Amino acid sequence: MLPKVNPVLPENILFGQSTAMKEIRHAAGKISQTSLPVLLSGEGGTGKEAVARWLHANSTYKSGEFIKVNCAAIPGALLESELFGYERGAFTGANAAKPGRVESAHGGTLFLDEIADLDLQLQSKLLHFLQDGTFSRIGDTSERRVDTRVICASNKDLRAEIEAGRFRQDLYYRIQVFRLELPPLRDRREDIPNLAEYFRAQFAKQFGMNSSDFPPGMLEYLKNLSWPGNVRELSNGMARYVLIGPEAAMHTESSGSRKSGRRTARSEGQAPVTLKRVAKDAIRELEKNVILETLHANHWNRRKTAQALKISYRALIYKIRDAGLATRRETLRSAQEHQAQQAVAD
Ligand SMILES: Nc1ncnc2c1ncn2[C@@H]1O[C@H](COP(=O)(O)OP(=O)(O)OP(=O)(O)O)[C@@H](O)[C@H]1O
Ligand SMILES: [Mg+2]
Repeated sequence: MLPKVNPVLPENILFGQSTAMKEIRHAAGKISQTSLPVLLSGEGGTGKEAVARWLHANSTYKSGEFIKVNCAAIPGALLESELFGYERGAFTGANAAKPGRVESAHGGTLFLDEIADLDLQLQSKLLHFLQDGTFSRIGDTSERRVDTRVICASNKDLRAEIEAGRFRQDLYYRIQVFRLELPPLRDRREDIPNLAEYFRAQFAKQFGMNSSDFPPGMLEYLKNLSWPGNVRELSNGMARYVLIGPEAAMHTESSGSRKSGRRTARSEGQAPVTLKRVAKDAIRELEKNVILETLHANHWNRRKTAQALKISYRALIYKIRDAGLATRRETLRSAQEHQAQQAVAD
């Protein structure tokens, strides 16, 4: 089993050195000392949950629990009982009373992730709770009071959701007393080297592997990628870098040494391994993943993908061929595998 990692990241890594993140750090410091609701917005993988955990760890609610509820992952009817709990007999199968996550968050932080996916009926119930701190379990008439810090996160544009009639405007104003908009990684490129170093060291430790310094040019290369998956993508990339290095060194196919769990510098009859080659393989792998993710994000439209990656269409076609992503079917399959890997890594 992997060692347990502290979910609260070191401050210098979480906030970094970029102006954008320094401003976030400054605001977060002040916000953490209040009990008012916070809305964290930003693209996927920009660190909304990471910041929510930091806010909790630095608040007066830190002795309580950090309770996370993913509103998109639980269907509406179930979500209400998950959030607010129920009394015995409230519905078929409710054989015993059960407190909800809101109650578990008493004295701590309630983190409502993907808040845009909360249905309108639950939005009303949440609004009521945010107005006076009270709510009722399903099947109960009495009101309960809970003192918790509520942090919401969304990577959807909530204003557009309001326009579309899917999100209550009054709830929006309640949850965004403070709003932190986390910048995409491509807008704070100066933080990439420190993040990459941090993740490389962390994964080397976590996987119990040696990982030497990055080869020259690698950090500069990483700084120039577009990172559509933001910090999560960089983190996953570094996990692969740590793992692929030794695998590339073995020229992969030889399964014998893999089974024994020990990795040798090279296998019989194969070319000697050079750091340059390991780096080249790792870079190709990273590049391939970025291309795959961007293709996926752009519904496999290669022109749009080239634009998003800020390279020419011809360069993209060359890279797709070079990465061995010749057919769309193959590309789709690798994308699915990649997504599955990501799901495991997260
Ligand atoms: N600023 C950061 N510093 C270090 N690691 C970070 C930072 N931001 C994100 N990460 C790491 O990247 C991964 C994704 O971060 P997180 O889950 O906080 O993103 P998110 O914005 O909630 O994404 P999503 O919208 O997809 O849920 C996590 O492993 C997290 O530790
Ligand atoms: Mg998240």
